[in-house]
Amino acid sequence: MTKKGDIEKYLFMKITVHNLIYSYPNSNNFNALNDVSFEIDQTHNFVIISGASGSGKTTLLYALEGLITPQQGKILFDEEDVCQMNQKELASFRNEKVGFVFQNYLLDESLNIVENVYLPAIILGKEDKKTYIKRAQELLLSVGINEDQFKKKPTQLSGGQQQRVAIARALINKPNIIMADEPTGNLDSKNAIMIIELLKSLIEKENIKVILVTHETKFYEYGDQIITLSDGKVVKNEF
Ligand SMILES: Nc1ncnc2c1ncn2[C@@H]1O[C@H](COP(=O)(O)OP(=O)(O)O)[C@@H](O)[C@H]1O
Ligand SMILES: [Mg+2]
Repeated sequence: MTKKGDIEKYLFMKITVHNLIYSYPNSNNFNALNDVSFEIDQTHNFVIISGASGSGKTTLLYALEGLITPQQGKILFDEEDVCQMNQKELASFRNEKVGFVFQNYLLDESLNIVENVYLPAIILGKEDKKTYIKRAQELLLSVGINEDQFKKKPTQLSGGQQQRVAIARALINKPNIIMADEPTGNLDSKNAIMIIELLKSLIEKENIKVILVTHETKFYEYGDQIITLSDGKVVKNEF
């Protein structure tokens, strides 16, 4: 396989979602995703999934991340169907292709921030320690965290800084795509905008696609595609 970075211009992946149906176990066959279809082509790289609370945004992201398996439908990343992957393929998809960002940052309080950022690289185990420490430090600098913070534990940083650390961690294994579920939900509006702008800047800098789940209409202007859900269905898909 050609490694990203080895080629001059990486062609962004295309994502095709076909007739997705998902109901949680013990939910009386209530479809949290109820026949969801859409396409994200190579030119749309900051994609917003919007909709009211309970509309199915997080469930859709779980499906795209391969964390749940829909009862019906397909999710194609280029030609590869996430719904058909076995456990081993799913693990490598999640570790190598996708970077995750959460509302609550999910940093490990017992580790300093450099260690937090390189943790997913240890799990992957492809490089030596020196290489991933160096990349972790470079990523932290690139998301606006200075060297004098490197030895600090997550709780010694502000919410906005912790989310920057989480974004650096999401990038450590050079993913093709970042998926972020309400990443600004715990931030004040100034920090929230800075995080959205940081995510947007990564598209060119790291050659990635970003899928952002948010119900905040003020961020829609940043998106080049906005998919709106209501009751588990796509009700709008705007470019
Ligand atoms: N673990 C779960 N078990 C059963 N139902 C769930 C679970 N998580 C979410 N749901 C239901 O699935 C629907 C979609 O939820 P969710 O994807 O979390 O929406 P959103 O992220 O847009 O707020 C809602 O009706 C919600 O109650
Ligand atoms: Mg949600």
